[in-house]
Amino acid sequence: MNFKIKNICCIGAGYVGGPTMAVIADKCPDVKVEVVDLDVERIKKWNHKDLNKLPIYEPGLAEIVGRCREVNLFFSNSVDKKIKNADMVFISVNTPTKKKGLGAGKASDLKWVEACARQVARYSVGHTIVVEKSTLPVRTAEVIKSILKESVKSNVTAKTFDVLSNPEFLSEGSAIEDLINPDRVLIGGENENAIDLLSSIYSNWVPKNKILRTNIWSSELAKLTANAFLAQRISSINSISALCEATGADVREVARAIGSDKRIGPKFLDSGPGFGGSCFKKDILNLVYLSEYFGLPQVANFWESVVKLNDWHQHRISQLVVKKLFGTVSGKKISILGFAFKANTNDTRESAAIRICKDLLEEGAILSIHDPKVEMSQISRDLKNENQNFSKEGSWTMSEDIYDSINGSDAVVILTEWEEYTKIKWDKVSTIVRRPAWIFDSRSIIDPKKVLKNGMNFWRVGDGLN
Ligand code: UDX
Ligand code: UDX
Repeated sequence: MNFKIKNICCIGAGYVGGPTMAVIADKCPDVKVEVVDLDVERIKKWNHKDLNKLPIYEPGLAEIVGRCREVNLFFSNSVDKKIKNADMVFISVNTPTKKKGLGAGKASDLKWVEACARQVARYSVGHTIVVEKSTLPVRTAEVIKSILKESVKSNVTAKTFDVLSNPEFLSEGSAIEDLINPDRVLIGGENENAIDLLSSIYSNWVPKNKILRTNIWSSELAKLTANAFLAQRISSINSISALCEATGADVREVARAIGSDKRIGPKFLDSGPGFGGSCFKKDILNLVYLSEYFGLPQVANFWESVVKLNDWHQHRISQLVVKKLFGTVSGKKISILGFAFKANTNDTRESAAIRICKDLLEEGAILSIHDPKVEMSQISRDLKNENQNFSKEGSWTMSEDIYDSINGSDAVVILTEWEEYTKIKWDKVSTIVRRPAWIFDSRSIIDPKKVLKNGMNFWRVGDGLN
């Protein structure tokens, strides 16, 4: 292998593209990494002098960007120019669920991926390796290849391409750690040489035995399947939490007992308010669509039930809050602690907090929302009353301080497992809430005794003694 990758271009400076490229730049000082995005504001934030103002919060990310930016890591809007210089182009653009047309509500909208393939076809020079980083439906590589093939035919200058699938398994909040110490790196492709070149990038820091090679379709399907399996575990344990509450069992004890079986394992068994994040729901719906498309309705129904259970579970929690507060929350102040879909991220996509807050607003509650990382403008977008069926009766404000949020509330609802919520002083809370007060812990981060001994009511997910 004489050829070496010297110039990488990544289209899409989002939660996937940004951290992934930062780590590649950090680990491969000889490679120049150009991250491009159509979004001018986003790129401005990536180039912000103050590293606290980057568009994405991930522990460890600012330090890496501080080290590499303007050295071998660059952020810009010059998509065409950077494609032209690149030996390898990563496609990390978003692939949201289609809102209308064929496959609406389930299939992924591939318009951005297609647009990227067309840009690469047009502006690339010589040989280019195109790497699918975005999570895509199986056989998308075929679409990319056929677009690229047309450009080869219609161009006088010699252009050649290889297409690889290299899905990202990073988890938000621990993205940098996941990128530096991955369980595996998956590379799917047809051309061994192209796979070797991408593998040579990762082997700068990933042990060779962790770099898995597959055919391109297995790689695409493995990504969807991994997310579907993880989400399925959460829906499974959340379904059991409801049964625990009904029967007097405790979901934490059940999880510990089943998790000690090596075949099951202890991870991803925390019952919570329902899974969120940009991937789980979208990827399962994608799998559902694919199964239907290939004439496998039983497979489609099986996976769809994972999403349905999650929706039901989120509503279950908001209904429970209403029931415990004597059947009405109208005009009552409720403190919402946590809006991000999990701790250590400012991402709110598909967060359980959105569904639960909307339900409570519909019931007329006055919400005081606290989150250490999510901005008010984001919450405002998330709680916008787009759906006409959702008749918003209540109102919400944002609090910068936990105790301000709690002050005068009838209930405190913990929705994200931020560390600061584990340190709340419940004796202090008991003096500022309106009695009788309820504390709802959907993340099992509070010691029930501390709340109960201060004379407040306590509910936590999957606790049969509630
Ligand atoms: C997204 C998907 O959610 C995930 O499934 C996929 O694996 C990778 O892409 P993420 O990085 O979290 O993940 O998305 P997002 O933060 O929305 O970033 C995508 C970026 O692509 C945006 O900044 C958008 O402006 C940019 N983009 C989109 C382009 O630069 N060009 C386009 O044509 C379309
Ligand atoms: C997920 C996958 O983990 C990752 O491999 C993939 O690349 C992208 O999708 P992410 O969405 O960042 O990552 O978060 P993850 O940690 O998987 O959590 C997803 C949701 O499940 C969160 O809302 C989280 O709170 C919830 N969760 C997770 C639980 O409710 N219980 C658990 O035990 C684990």
